[in-house]
Amino acid sequence: MHIELNRKEKFEIEVVLTKRFKNCTQEEKENLRFIGFSGREGEAEFIGKKLFVGLDGYGSEDIKIAVNYGIQKLQKTKFQNILFRLVESSREYLLKDLMEGILLGSYIFEKYKSNKISKAKEISIDTTHSKKDLTTLEKEFKESLSISKSVNMVRDIVNTPPQDFFPKTMAEKAEEIAEKNSLQCKIYGEEYLITNGMHAMESVGRASVHESQLIHLTYKPKNPKKVVVIVGKGVTYDSGGLSLKSPNAMVSMKCDKSGACAVLGVMNSLKDLNLNIEVHGIIGAVENMVGGDAFKPDDIITAKNGKTVEVKSTDAEGRLVLADVLCYAQERIKNIDYIFDIATLTGATIIGLGEYTTGVMGHSKKCKKRVQKASKSSGELVGFLPFNRYLKKMLHSNAADMQNSTQSKAGSAITAAMFLDNFIEKKNKKKWLHLDIAGASYRDKNWGYNPYGGTGAGVRLLLEFLRSL
Ligand code: BES
Ligand code: ZN
Ligand code: ZN
Repeated sequence: MHIELNRKEKFEIEVVLTKRFKNCTQEEKENLRFIGFSGREGEAEFIGKKLFVGLDGYGSEDIKIAVNYGIQKLQKTKFQNILFRLVESSREYLLKDLMEGILLGSYIFEKYKSNKISKAKEISIDTTHSKKDLTTLEKEFKESLSISKSVNMVRDIVNTPPQDFFPKTMAEKAEEIAEKNSLQCKIYGEEYLITNGMHAMESVGRASVHESQLIHLTYKPKNPKKVVVIVGKGVTYDSGGLSLKSPNAMVSMKCDKSGACAVLGVMNSLKDLNLNIEVHGIIGAVENMVGGDAFKPDDIITAKNGKTVEVKSTDAEGRLVLADVLCYAQERIKNIDYIFDIATLTGATIIGLGEYTTGVMGHSKKCKKRVQKASKSSGELVGFLPFNRYLKKMLHSNAADMQNSTQSKAGSAITAAMFLDNFIEKKNKKKWLHLDIAGASYRDKNWGYNPYGGTGAGVRLLLEFLRSL
């Protein structure tokens, strides 16, 4: 897919977005009606050199979803040169929405398919009728292109099967991104984890044949306004460990690296967006497997901050990894303004909020408000889950400072976040938010402009958050 503004070449097909036949001639309307098209979301029909795409409204998500249907239809044709117009006669929509609809909606993961469906397309967006000046539009174009590319990169990584993507692969990918974007990149192996008291993370990855990797990327502009840390759960495969998952629950656990991948996606666009914020992307990459030296239920592990954790389930491994990485981040970086962790942490988030929504937890109302705004401007859905003193008690352990999982599943998205709270320093309590993307990051079926598999959840949300600072 190649996309440009105002390309001169001839196009074969023009895409027309229409809400209930707006922007259609009388003749087009009659012909469209005849073939059963009514101008609603989900419809896309060719008449002559035009592809009419139904639209339910002019909101950002309406545009993205409608465009997605159009591009999906075009994907199956041999047409190469395609024209979109930024403005139809009725309303002006955002270039960003048009671009995300095209670029995110046309994504296909077919690296492992013998017969590939996607064909090279040349897309032009005609902006001559837009009210905005070309310089503004060009900036918007460049930024949207970068963000969409990062989302699709994340989807590619998340979808890559675990035999081809493990902690070392994650480290290599981070190095590649660092190189391309002039970021600092530090990578530490298991020896570092042991000598630095990161036993929680080290325990989780110990039974795997793949060495665990702690990855620290830094984007440092000259005089940054703020310092933001984003910690990602990078479990490249979650078998559950000795608390082994059932066969059905194990399927799709390649998605358990989605938090880390979102961090990579964010780091890959900071330079393109020219953000004046220091951003640290820190990843705990491990594979949760079984073996003779696996960590066990009943083990008591000491995390980096000296707190002890009794393991009740080796399947509640993400919080152990995050605990140590959060401690590492706060030790290393002194003047933090915001600290996020992003993770496919609990199935309970999916039960509570549905598959499409990221669960947001933490102590700061102000921070949550900002995330709410970023949700609106990015189109990523968020829902807030509240802490309370009673749920906190469920993490009590008779043998250690706390246990890593609770007996009851009730409220377990929240108890997971309250577990992490034990590893947030006092001064950072109101600067921290936990994002549970267990549902939003991956799906077996298409939804909106998200095809099968990884969605890239978190990338647009966090980038919009950073832009708002
Ligand atoms: N990686 C899973 C959570 C998950 C579930 C992600 C479904 C994506 C889709 C996590 O490590 C896990 O197994 N969590 C357990 C926690 C429990 C043992 C306390 C869960 O959610 O059941
Ligand atoms: Zn697990
Ligand atoms: Zn997991």
